[in-house]
Amino acid sequence: MTKTILTTILALSIRTIAADPAPASAAPLADSSPSKSAFSTTYEDITYSFDTEEAKNAFVQKVTASIYHQIGGKASMEAAIEIFYKKVLADDRINHFFKDTNMAKQKQKQKAFLSAAFGSPVKWTGLDMRTAHADLPGLNDTHFNAVAGHLQATLEELKVKKELIAQIMAAAGSLRDDVLNRKPAAK
Ligand code: HEM
Repeated sequence: MTKTILTTILALSIRTIAADPAPASAAPLADSSPSKSAFSTTYEDITYSFDTEEAKNAFVQKVTASIYHQIGGKASMEAAIEIFYKKVLADDRINHFFKDTNMAKQKQKQKAFLSAAFGSPVKWTGLDMRTAHADLPGLNDTHFNAVAGHLQATLEELKVKKELIAQIMAAAGSLRDDVLNRKPAAK
């Protein structure tokens, strides 16, 4: 009985990855034959399986080189999101945007989005940034800069390395035109 439960749990936690890892929401393998799951690796409690050892190694290499992994993965992201939203909600320039927001859900979403953006193998399945911020009247650069400033201060407080902070801020900055719902600046 216990064995059956364990086998079921194991089968459910295994996902097949071809070129790219599947999102956490992907359907579990219906056919988890030994040949398909011969090369597997577990990262943050999710087991990813591959057709070849090369594919598995490429996945491990990519994940461990990611910003997400380098800043400390899930635990660091959780700490960062808590500190970040304390700052955002204490800032009168921007906190009115969140007056009707369920902050528990927002924290979950932001954690999932930023984790994926920084290279977690779990893909973001929520709204794209243009759609997510389309109904926020008056949202402008000042607001964006305030949010970006809180993100940077959070990372500094958590003693994230300077080079990583620079990479993260560049990634966040690249979302400005989408968040502010305007055309990308002409190059
Ligand atoms: C790099 C900058 C930003 C990122 C990465 C970001 C990320 C996100 C994400 C992931 C969501 C949830 C999308 C979903 O529902 O699927 C969201 C929603 C939202 N964001 Fe942002 N955001 C950014 C900037 C801003 C700024 C500058 C403001 C305003 C000061 C803002 C205010 C909001 C609000 C009010 C929501 C909707 C919350 C709700 O559902 O009630 N965001 N954002």
